[in-house]
Amino acid sequence: MVLNIVKYGDSILETECAQVTRFNTPELRKLIDDMFETMYAARGVGLAAPQINVGQQLTVIDTSSGEDPTAKLVLINPKIVKRQGQQIGEEGCLSIPGFREDVRRAAHVTVQAQDVEGNSFEVNGDELLARALQHEIDHLHGILFLNHLSPLKRDLIRRKIKKLHKAGEW
Ligand code: NI
Repeated sequence: MVLNIVKYGDSILETECAQVTRFNTPELRKLIDDMFETMYAARGVGLAAPQINVGQQLTVIDTSSGEDPTAKLVLINPKIVKRQGQQIGEEGCLSIPGFREDVRRAAHVTVQAQDVEGNSFEVNGDELLARALQHEIDHLHGILFLNHLSPLKRDLIRRKIKKLHKAGEW
């Protein structure tokens, strides 16, 4: 089922998410399936639970956009345990449609997470995957890519969104 994606302005996007404590339930599996479906429908490479109004530490990522089944990642209670190097590249967010900006991120990250059954695993990412991992894990702590921009750029985007909101276009 394709779910509604919450847009910037909703407080859930800027709220710390709770840890997932119940694993291997039909509800969790359904939620993950729905998140992948929603992400593919919106042509995104990552989606975090707060973006579909669920305040839990869960995110899905697929940097192959559905081309490679082995690229599908489900990360529950993920933590970045290692960061190396830097990269600057354009980033967008399904909750902030129409806005893309350069964001500085680590070039390489190692993430520890749990799978749907609660088993711990580690994933390493470079380039786009490293960027997606950092962007999505930020979401689970109420942090948006806007928080990584200069105050000037951030305020400019906020003002534009306010205008769109007033016009009923947000
Ligand atoms: Ni996002």
